[in-house]
Amino acid sequence: MHVLDADRGVLTLTGATPPYDAVAGQVTLMVGEGVTGWVAANGQPAVLVDDKRADPRYRYIPDLQGERYTSMASVPMTSQPGALVGVLNVHTIERRVFAEADVRLLSSIGSLVAGAIVSARLHRNVAEREQARERFAERIVALQEGERRRLAGEIHDGISQRIVGLAFYLSAAADAVATDADFAAKQIAAARLLADQALDETRNAIAGLRPPVLDDLGLGASIASLGRSVPSADVDVDIDVEPGALAEHVETALYRIAQEALQNVAKHAEAERVSVTLRQAGNDAVELRVRDDGRGFSLDDRSVAAGVSYGLSGMRERADLIGGTLRVQSRPAVGTTIVVRVPFGQAAAGSSSSE
Ligand SMILES: Nc1ncnc2c1ncn2[C@@H]1O[C@H](COP(=O)(O)OP(=O)(O)OP(=O)(O)O)[C@@H](O)[C@H]1O
Ligand SMILES: [Mg+2]
Repeated sequence: MHVLDADRGVLTLTGATPPYDAVAGQVTLMVGEGVTGWVAANGQPAVLVDDKRADPRYRYIPDLQGERYTSMASVPMTSQPGALVGVLNVHTIERRVFAEADVRLLSSIGSLVAGAIVSARLHRNVAEREQARERFAERIVALQEGERRRLAGEIHDGISQRIVGLAFYLSAAADAVATDADFAAKQIAAARLLADQALDETRNAIAGLRPPVLDDLGLGASIASLGRSVPSADVDVDIDVEPGALAEHVETALYRIAQEALQNVAKHAEAERVSVTLRQAGNDAVELRVRDDGRGFSLDDRSVAAGVSYGLSGMRERADLIGGTLRVQSRPAVGTTIVVRVPFGQAAAGSSSSE
């Protein structure tokens, strides 16, 4: 039994009666090659009764020891008309005239096996998708863990150190307040400074999670404010954002991607104009587009291809995590366009299952 790899046009011996089962997986034929390849190419059975070596279709394969056999019948294995799965061959040592009924029987057996192969493939696809989903879930958990560690680090090294210092200054002030009011006032001023710093650090730690501006203004206005704050003064920024209800994690991701894309424009593009659009695309997706007319870059540039910088790969990762895709189109001297497309199934508000 030879199974077809339709993409490569290759037939591989997949199952055989002993002793040829030992070479299963090792014997391959191109479609069109040998009797088996002819059957696959034509979708018709072939019967060779005598002197098969004289048949122009025949090709001798040493591993299969064709010299030991006299006659052969070869039938296409199809799961449904036109869908070739492989080729089933029967060889006989004695001369045998395969009758039409024999060929029909072989063809039926071939279809049964083909059906089993097709459903095994479907099953494997489902299993692979399931695994991909598990890997995806693992990555989300790993990202969440990373985020937690970052927060723990910021609380431990920054905020709680400040509070320890704050307590220290306040105790010193309390001890001194009755006897040395000047000293106490200095301690309180130092405590005040630490309280401000702790507050700043708390804000920063939270901003790393979800940009507060999103809650205050919504995605459209937040992106518009990003546009206004592009640090390079001579670039014209054009923002066109359709309002729409997107899930919170999708808004955060799109905001971060727009932010990095605009930062890249300011840092690298030397552009005159940049436009940011967020629109519904087709019936089933939203699309964020950041396009500049700057110097562009080559995607095979070594540092870009090696992914040494975080920006582009981070954008792609964020797009992936919300079930979207990211495309980067860039040509030297023409400009750069970043397109993120997120299917509605993932993007619409209320679709985030557990957060
Ligand atoms: N809009 C753009 N115009 C021109 N070149 C760009 C643009 N965006 C990215 N690039 C090029 O692609 C490279 C990779 O971009 P990426 O954002 O990954 O890294 P970075 O901006 O150099 O560093 P990071 O974002 O990690 O701070 C940049 O160094 C730059 O050469
Ligand atoms: Mg960057």
